[in-house]
Amino acid sequence: MTSARQSAVDVLVVGAGAAGMMCAIEAGRRGRSVLVVDHADAPGEKIRISGGGRCNFTNLHCSPKAFLSRNPHFARSALARYSQHDFIELVDRHGIAWHEKTLGQLFCDGSARQIIAMLLAEMERAGARLDLSTSVDAIDRDEAGFTVRLSTGPVRCQSLVIATGGKSIPKMGATGFGYQVAERFGLAVVAPRPGLVPLTFGPDLLERLTPLAGVSVETAEVAHGRTRFREGLLFTHRGLSGPSILQISSCWHEGEEVVVALAPDVDVIGRLKAARSAHGRQSVAAMLATLLPRRLAQAVCDMEAIGGNLADCSDRVLERVALAVNGWRIRPEGSEGYRTAEVTLGGVDTAGLDQKTMAARSVPGLHFIGEVVDVTGWLGGYNFQWAWSSGWVAGQAV
Ligand code: FDA
Repeated sequence: MTSARQSAVDVLVVGAGAAGMMCAIEAGRRGRSVLVVDHADAPGEKIRISGGGRCNFTNLHCSPKAFLSRNPHFARSALARYSQHDFIELVDRHGIAWHEKTLGQLFCDGSARQIIAMLLAEMERAGARLDLSTSVDAIDRDEAGFTVRLSTGPVRCQSLVIATGGKSIPKMGATGFGYQVAERFGLAVVAPRPGLVPLTFGPDLLERLTPLAGVSVETAEVAHGRTRFREGLLFTHRGLSGPSILQISSCWHEGEEVVVALAPDVDVIGRLKAARSAHGRQSVAAMLATLLPRRLAQAVCDMEAIGGNLADCSDRVLERVALAVNGWRIRPEGSEGYRTAEVTLGGVDTAGLDQKTMAARSVPGLHFIGEVVDVTGWLGGYNFQWAWSSGWVAGQAV
């Protein structure tokens, strides 16, 4: 792709991530002259590292229900106009093999780099140009459009698209740039915070549970109020991770509790009582180890200070054990923060944006797309689908 040094384009897109590239493709296909700039030295870096290098590029069950936003209806229009099926069709057209891993999550069979190559090929075909290692120094607006002072020189554009993502993983070039642009033009920003992030324990719990680091449960149920997710859970050196924890972290706020069921499909009290009748001399820990990883079973007993055999346990004691397994209430101390968060919750307030075009209502020609907007998906390919859908609709309007 050649570097552009022109001083005027129809559309300037800041950010060559998932949303920015999709927007550039669509605008270019409509005959608009498009320049995409990014301060990184490679496009789509988050695509490259996503899904363990295989990019969970969408979800078969994508629907507005899988997104968090101050306005839960905002994403509806873009998701309907450019759906998961449209993106799958694009992937198929490029001959990229994929598979469903679980829960509708679609991954490349090969590498996430195939998705980046596909987007770059589509950009080239649409005539959209890409300037990497280019930063934005200033933005000025007049009646005819914008003058954007880039590190490579000034560029005039009619439409300016901010696709700079959220604050997650700063070491990969994530910045709060998009929020600053929004505020500079008078748009409200919903306070950003890390989402899809491991939760951390305070010192007391950490000391007791650190020996469990590396232990995992294939299916746990983690609840926060009425929201619950049933997926894997992992003990780490700092607290808890795994898909169920990442999911609930997006609903959780500091100071709040989450409730964990470590064996959600098991009637633990029924099983304990049956075992007491049949094998009274079995230890409680040994019995729990038939339901949970052995180290975890022992930790549950240690936390409840239960050391004896099943026959020595009253119904009340067994009920306490069952509750520790399937109603474990924890108050995480915090999260691992933007350093490891997969997404940033909050962002440009959707109240100031047109859901059909992603344009700022009060600033004609200024659009915000992708993660910088206050729309955040669950884990499982939903965040990329939002990037594709919001990029696509903006691409029809710029
Ligand atoms: P994105 O962050 O992709 O792109 C923003 C671009 O703007 C970057 O290229 C950046 O360099 C550039 N930029 C930032 N500031 C700038 C500035 N001031 N000037 C110029 N350029 C600037 N989602 C999913 O659906 N499936 C998955 O498998 C995963 N996996 C995953 C793994 C990991 C480790 C992370 C961190 C995240 C995921 N995600 C995910 C989330 C997904 O990566 C994310 O939601 C999208 O990449 C968001 O796309 P955007 O285009 O909005 O931003």
